[in-house]
Amino acid sequence: MSVPILVAVAWPYASGSRHLGHLAGAYLPADVFARYHRLVGNQVLMVSGSDVHGTPITVRADAEGVTPADIVGRYHAEFVSDWDRLGISWDLYTSTGTENHSEVTHDIFLRLLQNGHIDKRSSEQHFDVEADRFLPDRYIEGTCPYCNYPEARGDQCEDCGRTLDPEELLNPCSKITGTTPVLRETEHFFLRLSDFGQDLSEWLEAREDWRPHVLNFSRSWIDEGLQDRAITRDLEWGVEVPVDDLGPGKRIYVWFEAVIGYLSASKEWAANQGDPDSWRNWWENDNARSFYFIGKDNIPFHTIIWPGMLLGYGGLNLPTDVPANNYVTFSGGKASASRGVGLTISEALDMFEADAIRYALAASFPEQSDTDLSVEEIVRRVNDELVATWGNLVNRVLSMVHRICDAEVPAPDGRTADDLALLAVVDEAIEHVGGQINRVELRAGIRTGIETAAAVNAYLNATEPWKLAKSDPDRARVVLATALAAVGGVRVALSPYLPFSTDLLEGVFGEVESWARVEPVPGTPVDKPSPMFVKVDLAELLADEPADDA
Ligand code: MF3
Ligand code: ZN
Repeated sequence: MSVPILVAVAWPYASGSRHLGHLAGAYLPADVFARYHRLVGNQVLMVSGSDVHGTPITVRADAEGVTPADIVGRYHAEFVSDWDRLGISWDLYTSTGTENHSEVTHDIFLRLLQNGHIDKRSSEQHFDVEADRFLPDRYIEGTCPYCNYPEARGDQCEDCGRTLDPEELLNPCSKITGTTPVLRETEHFFLRLSDFGQDLSEWLEAREDWRPHVLNFSRSWIDEGLQDRAITRDLEWGVEVPVDDLGPGKRIYVWFEAVIGYLSASKEWAANQGDPDSWRNWWENDNARSFYFIGKDNIPFHTIIWPGMLLGYGGLNLPTDVPANNYVTFSGGKASASRGVGLTISEALDMFEADAIRYALAASFPEQSDTDLSVEEIVRRVNDELVATWGNLVNRVLSMVHRICDAEVPAPDGRTADDLALLAVVDEAIEHVGGQINRVELRAGIRTGIETAAAVNAYLNATEPWKLAKSDPDRARVVLATALAAVGGVRVALSPYLPFSTDLLEGVFGEVESWARVEPVPGTPVDKPSPMFVKVDLAELLADEPADDA
């Protein structure tokens, strides 16, 4: 049965380049998952876009002396190019800067207001007297009241991961003037999250199959008591407030509207299809499933606040799963040390082939805990695993078929029990990887794929078709027909992870159209292969790096 599957991916702030940690955290896992579900025959809708609002954008624009629109234009273009080079298979990648997104945000805001889940309150917030303005979110830095980290931002502490209100910070300091702000009265709309405490708590209690770290974080957030949250800000950049009670200079808080992007993008996609109601398939059907791919710093917004908003709105599906990843830390090696932080996606794409990056990251996805990565580790994964096992197997088999079988796919007649056993192993592996991807155990899935390639290599070492070519050419052809079919099967299992090299094999195997091994067609021409992946030379990569003191 074909199931509607919403693949909802965190909306990256268009305030700076994304790095490999973001890629491993959300975008790549989502892409693997979406590609698998399309092959299984499910109805996948994979959406996201650039998050163009909020203080991350305006702080950056202020620092550079340009407009927020300049910043957003620059990074949105960079992201779109990154996704294209990486083969991230969006159904729609849009932005929160569209008219449609404002309309959908207003619809949700007004319905929540009407249902009594939004109200207006007056509170004291930080005001910079010298700059003559309020200081929302990232315009304030100070000491985290929970972990004492001295450089916590007004919206979140990067050290302990807590979401914060700027007013909670100890020793608050204005990012604009460096002065100590004063507290001043201001009016804002609040989302009455406490209205949903009971329902959310029961809903989370029942999510037994979620990742433990996601559940623990979310449950303890609720146990600490759900606070009503301000959902407007004293800012001039953002989605406008759809009622004018607050006066000018106020916008909707970025975190209230960005999560709405999943719904507004679904509606935009539907309109683009010429079937404006088709988004309902993913949002209103009881059998639809939704998976939110995010980094762990975004957990409460997706497991509590967005579900609360959905409950208050009514009639829309809550997340099926929020398989948040931990962090990829990036250390070791000159290539990273010279920059202080990890590689940006664009930099990595200049150094490695897309599938090499995809392989190395998938093999280290931080699903259970933080994972450390370095250029050395990427090179090792690519050379010693991807090239040595999978690349080498494909090269070996295609070369021998070319040389020994008259450059065409041999007929598989006369397979022995050993041959059939190998194919059974491959078929089981495809099933197994499917189960792993289904459970969002993507790191285990690529491991299974590579181990299966190793099993086919072992079969070749045991049967030695290059010797049989002289002693028993008929048997050599059956062995190679079997190895070739096995390679075709491993290719299916790896295809969600490695789309570019999957396509390179289309001439022999055709397109991958379903989650099953398909016998290659006897007589299909097999050219002399060129390697699918190039081995990377670490010394050469590091030699291109600017020196630390450059
Ligand atoms: N822009 C946020 C970030 O980069 C993520 C937003 S996810 C969304 O951390 F759901 F709110 F869109
Ligand atoms: Zn902290």
